[in-house]
Amino acid sequence: MSPRGGVYRCQTCGFASPKAGTCPDCARQGAWVTLVEERVEAPSKARRGAVASTRPAPLRDVQMERGDRVATGIGELDRVLGGGVVRGSLVLIGGDPGIGKSTLLLQTARALAAAQPPVLYVSAEESAAQLKLRADRLGIAADGLLVWAETDLAVVQAALDDVKPRALIVDSIQTVYLPDLESAPGSVAQVRECGARLMTLAKGRGIATFLVGHVTKEGALAGPRVLEHLVDTVLYFEGEQHHAYRVLRAVKNRFGSTNEIGVFQMGERGLAEVANPSGFFLAERPADAPGSVIVSSLEGTRPLLLELQALVARAPFGTPRRTVLGADYNRVCLLLAVLEKRAGLPLGTQDVFVNVAGGGRVLEPAADLGIVIAAASSYLERPVPPDVLVLGEVGLTGEVRAVAGLEVRLREAAALGFRSAVVPRGNLDPKTPPPLPMRGVATVGEAVEALLG
Ligand code: TYD
Ligand code: MG
Repeated sequence: MSPRGGVYRCQTCGFASPKAGTCPDCARQGAWVTLVEERVEAPSKARRGAVASTRPAPLRDVQMERGDRVATGIGELDRVLGGGVVRGSLVLIGGDPGIGKSTLLLQTARALAAAQPPVLYVSAEESAAQLKLRADRLGIAADGLLVWAETDLAVVQAALDDVKPRALIVDSIQTVYLPDLESAPGSVAQVRECGARLMTLAKGRGIATFLVGHVTKEGALAGPRVLEHLVDTVLYFEGEQHHAYRVLRAVKNRFGSTNEIGVFQMGERGLAEVANPSGFFLAERPADAPGSVIVSSLEGTRPLLLELQALVARAPFGTPRRTVLGADYNRVCLLLAVLEKRAGLPLGTQDVFVNVAGGGRVLEPAADLGIVIAAASSYLERPVPPDVLVLGEVGLTGEVRAVAGLEVRLREAAALGFRSAVVPRGNLDPKTPPPLPMRGVATVGEAVEALLG
């Protein structure tokens, strides 16, 4: 038992226990995390004698606030937020260290400062001089942008009356702290309390607030995970450190859809919006190379054309290797087994490597047929015609199943110069004229015949 009647808390997931030890929740997921003792604060006098500042109201009397969204000036970010940032909302932006969160938010701060000054950027990780260095690199010299290297959130709060920012950026939630809590910055207690405090400030003063949260390797927001239910919007900034492209993805959004993505390219002068991501991914596509297939991955309402590559080579050792980058490993193994069994390609003696060019990712079943065709194309040493889009989910009996969002995918392909598409027969609809000539296939065997025969 905790001597002072406090709790022991997991610093990763927030699990609380009266006893010391390891976190059972995290242990179930294979991580051994030691619980850390936390003192329970007595409720303050103010809290005990709280005076209600809100009252229940009839639903029909609730006013819809109009015009409470502010365009950030960055189209890709606005799209993911659901059409601009809502005043008084709290947005958490998670991502691996070094992926470009500070860069994105500094650019956002510039755009917001131009539209709605002042904007306050609280940097709890970098000094004002470091921030200035980055701003110079990005060519930022906005008047309405105030930067402040401060880690004490109480000090920041006290200054808000003076500064009256319309937007606030806190970089990061793991490095700011409230002095009246005993635990260290970054601990669950601090992150939770700082998050709650910022929520109150954002809502109470109508400040659009962005928080940066660093992510662990496992992909979860360590510490900040306890914030996910508190905040209005959770965005993840993702990408490969060594590739230029970055995707901003909404995983929670009280004010919009969680299906949208924003695509950026990291360059010498910061992040540039990629208006035509498909063109970006297809730019370096080799002509007439066996093993290369173009598939369409639908991200929200947005189709993304990606180049899938497979290399099939005779296995020099007994057990053949399967290496997969940018797609689901187990799914690829399953598809290779279907290809072997249903189309008769002897892949059991072959090493197979699958990769999505440019560091992209396809996690949609609609890319199944593309993976199958890429492997078959490499094995047979026959290229797929370069202007054909391949779409279809593949089942274990080798059947090709219909996919969602066919029309929008085909339109994107047509706009980029594709001339035809091989699609599931179940998707053919004689009533609507398609944006591209289509060939329907019902089985993997038919698809191999149609594209490589
Ligand atoms: P940063 O925004 O500091 O990442 P985070 O806040 O998520 O930790 O970005 C860091 C990386 O981005 C760093 O490796 C340098 C690179 N970068 C550029 O390539 N171009 C630029 O204009 C800037 C500002 C950064
Ligand atoms: Mg940073």
